[in-house]
Amino acid sequence: MRTIAVLNQKGGVGKTTTVVNIAAALAAAGSRVVVLDFDPQSHLTIHLGLEPQTVQFGSYKVLTQSAEFEQQIMLMRPNLWLLPANINLVGAESELVSVVGRETILREAMLPSRDKFDYCLIDCAPSLGLLTLNALAASEDVLIPLQPHFLALRGFGKLLQTVELVNKRINPNLKVKWVLLCMFDGRASLTNEVKDDIEQFLENAQGTNCPWSQAQILPVHIRRNIKLAEAPSYGKTIFEYEQNCHGAEDYRKVAELIHAQFHPSPTTDTLQPVAADEIQDQPPAPSAPSPQHDSQAQQQPSTQPAETDENQNQPPIEIKSISPHQQQKEGDFDARPSEFTQTPTEQSDT
Ligand SMILES: Nc1ncnc2c1ncn2[C@@H]1O[C@H](COP(=O)(O)OP(=O)(O)O)[C@@H](O)[C@H]1O
Ligand SMILES: [Mg+2]
Repeated sequence: MRTIAVLNQKGGVGKTTTVVNIAAALAAAGSRVVVLDFDPQSHLTIHLGLEPQTVQFGSYKVLTQSAEFEQQIMLMRPNLWLLPANINLVGAESELVSVVGRETILREAMLPSRDKFDYCLIDCAPSLGLLTLNALAASEDVLIPLQPHFLALRGFGKLLQTVELVNKRINPNLKVKWVLLCMFDGRASLTNEVKDDIEQFLENAQGTNCPWSQAQILPVHIRRNIKLAEAPSYGKTIFEYEQNCHGAEDYRKVAELIHAQFHPSPTTDTLQPVAADEIQDQPPAPSAPSPQHDSQAQQQPSTQPAETDENQNQPPIEIKSISPHQQQKEGDFDARPSEFTQTPTEQSDT
């Protein structure tokens, strides 16, 4: 299993949209994918069509009650499982304040399930607190969605410092792999300036030991697209809502790029939709995650992503100033209240 933390302590940059739609594209192409809602706002849970008030299980129980990971996940679509969140998650940080090893609870809970999924994507909270530390401790890769506007790089240094700290102290396998430009408008000159700044910064890190030395801006950007903004209120992925729009096109390509990094052979470097008769109606062996939940989804066995074991000890690297943008005051985030309205989960109509 490849675990990817989708991380940015700012709200409204595209984390949840990215998790939902990359996961949906990977799952549709036959990978077994589990997504984790680690944001108390529960937007990921809502986006996949579940009402958080009805959720009696999920990430809160895994973190605070030693609940078994596979008992807390739910099959939402073929090949796509969700560890949901509800508002209880807000209290998890304070409840765990005196628990020894509280940063690695998720990692330990997921250990027995590592072979049962190909990808795990974590929708991180818009903060760098204990929830995010748990997500980073359990991950190998970090994907940073970023909206390339005026304040885009505000807080970027702090974010990288957190990754570096986790990398040094808890999880030497952790690497920042990708920056994904979301809500991209290539006509705006500021967009391109921000992009150039990040590119320059990442270039400077190449060949060093820092955890972002292999990071790249993904060559596909997610264009601003109204369909992406509409889909969550119907509890649908973009492929279910409007499979031919720019948003669907962009996320499909990004999922292909990510998949190709772990499956470099020319025959497996693009995601092909799986034929219906190839999909099997079986949960991951040997135990079925959350048998109490939705049984409409089906299971498709898939190739195992290559595991990497990059045990490197990282010497401390100073977080450099990124650009004039980053030199503004740090430490904010503009978490958005949930404004989604939901309809009950609907099966894909695409
Ligand atoms: N490419 C896009 N074009 C238009 N709207 C988008 C796009 N990506 C995300 N959105 C919308 O912007 C808002 C913030 O995105 P979201 O993924 O929820 O960010 P985060 O999880 O970082 O808070 C949501 O209302 C979402 O539907
Ligand atoms: Mg979100």
